[in-house]
Amino acid sequence: MTPLAATTQKYERISLTPTSGALGMEVNGVDLSQPLDDALFAEIEHAFHENLVLVFRNQNIEPQHQLDFTHRFGPSEEHPLGSRRGLDDYPDVMVLENRPGKLGPRNDFWHSDISFGEVPPALSMLYAIEVSPGLADTMFSNMYAAYEELSETLRSFLDGLQAEHNAQTLVTEVPSRVQVTEVPPGVIHPVVRTHPKTGRRALYVNPYYTSHFIGMTKAESAPILEHLYAQATRHENIYRHKWRVGDVLMWDNRANMHYAVRDYDESQPRFMHRTTAAGERPY
Ligand code: OGA
Ligand code: MN
Repeated sequence: MTPLAATTQKYERISLTPTSGALGMEVNGVDLSQPLDDALFAEIEHAFHENLVLVFRNQNIEPQHQLDFTHRFGPSEEHPLGSRRGLDDYPDVMVLENRPGKLGPRNDFWHSDISFGEVPPALSMLYAIEVSPGLADTMFSNMYAAYEELSETLRSFLDGLQAEHNAQTLVTEVPSRVQVTEVPPGVIHPVVRTHPKTGRRALYVNPYYTSHFIGMTKAESAPILEHLYAQATRHENIYRHKWRVGDVLMWDNRANMHYAVRDYDESQPRFMHRTTAAGERPY
């Protein structure tokens, strides 16, 4: 497949505004409450794979609209460990809720969603229904760039290497966060994965779920992993999203990590609907 980065695509139906130098585009000209014809969807899909994060401002959508849009990319899924509640009528639409008496789920760690699963979701999507302005930003890092900026020697060491990912931290580090009590066995993924849509290679390790390189001890793996995380989370490699009501934001779990800034408490409401579209086993 020809990498998308090597193609030139003119956008006729949408216009894009960069959200940062590292990744992300704000998409103008799309109303997600309306059906998207194939040509319009193709432009959105292309923009997504080129830019890893898309932001649609001022949307006013129902859960079915969010599901319809998600399904254009792949089947939606519930959270595999049940750590997020789904809507009664739409179990695949998960609720992220923070308000007095109901402290929201923590995501203040760099991660790629469900990388502890055999088939992690290709993308995740949040629709912001209620926000506390200026608080609870979400950060995203570009894992293509993180890989490409490494020395050739380190890249060739990492190419072909595998790592174990597991959900142990969900239970042990932040026990108040979720009701997860049983952790599925760890899974093994390539350290550098190939994006099926772009053909590009991205680092696929994260500090929250990756435990060690296969064939190496944890002690041997740790300093190398730390270096990769430091590289991936340099300010220049990050987009920090400031939420507004009506934002629909989607991110590519195959080629980025994200981090939910925890600078708020129960008194500062936040309410979002989250969906994910299934991906493939990383290769
Ligand atoms: C998630 C997540 C970030 C946020 O839902 O997977 O990491 O800012 N959310 O809520
Ligand atoms: Mn997440």
